[in-house]
Amino acid sequence: MSILELRNIYRDRLNVSNQECDYIYKVILEDLCYIDPIKIALDPNFIVPENSKKLILDSLNRICDNYPLDYIISKKNFYGYDFFVNEGVLIPRPETEELVKWILENNKNLKGTKKVIDLCSGSGCIGIVISKENNNMDVTLSDVSEKALEVCNRNKINLNSNVKSIKLDLNSKLQHPKKYDLIVSNPPYLSTKEAHKIGKNVKYEPEIALFAPINKPLHFYEKIFEFASTNLNKNGEIYLEINPIFIEDFSQLLSRFNPNDVNFRDDFRGKKRLVKVLF
Ligand SMILES: C[S@@+](CC[C@H](N)C(=O)[O-])C[C@H]1O[C@@H](n2cnc3c(N)ncnc32)[C@H](O)[C@@H]1O
Repeated sequence: MSILELRNIYRDRLNVSNQECDYIYKVILEDLCYIDPIKIALDPNFIVPENSKKLILDSLNRICDNYPLDYIISKKNFYGYDFFVNEGVLIPRPETEELVKWILENNKNLKGTKKVIDLCSGSGCIGIVISKENNNMDVTLSDVSEKALEVCNRNKINLNSNVKSIKLDLNSKLQHPKKYDLIVSNPPYLSTKEAHKIGKNVKYEPEIALFAPINKPLHFYEKIFEFASTNLNKNGEIYLEINPIFIEDFSQLLSRFNPNDVNFRDDFRGKKRLVKVLF
């Protein structure tokens, strides 16, 4: 079958614009089959090798079933860096890039080293980028999930990063011995009540990464503030991604921990999703 015939099958089967179909097809060709997509235009009769044809058609079936393209190609670009991703981790989101940007902006002229911990690090996208972009950030990644830690260790090696990684369960009562100047986290924050509203492709992402415990949408924020009460240095700061629908409850929870200053920031969709807390 030719490269153009396969492209047309994508256009026929995918329920999106031709432009979007072509984008998906080109990504599959390039990142999964290592075939230069320019051939579609320059050599449309090029016969796709049998093994690649199988990959292309299998991928199409999975995409039709809302399986994320990023998992198919095992890759997601985040802040200009290619992160390895699989079903063990959340696919990094653009909103989270804004959290990283905020931290980097506020620490541009850092003098001396700042000890940072990324709680609930998943693929490691937040902590690894912070450490790559600012040499004065001494970053530790932490997650409870072994699968996530495997992925973040892989990203650490792929991206030649010097972050440390540790297993840390925010639900555990065990004391963690180290102190930090900055805590960053994008914890699981969807409430189970929102499960029916979220996109179909999310069904392939790990539940442990998405959902807060039933009827406790702010559970992980409480755990993060408890962690901060013992592990954050004086004048330390916390940057969090939060669920915009629970802002008021979040503010109430936060007031119990007596912060010195709180700043919310809208994401690019105009939703209050980022917060910086000074203690
Ligand atoms: C929303 S994902 C965030 C991943 C990554 N930081 C990002 O922004 O793409 C939340 C992460 O929290 C981790 N997690 C869930 N329960 C946890 C717990 N009790 N202690 C520590 N991490 C936990 C999950 O394994 C998952 O990797």
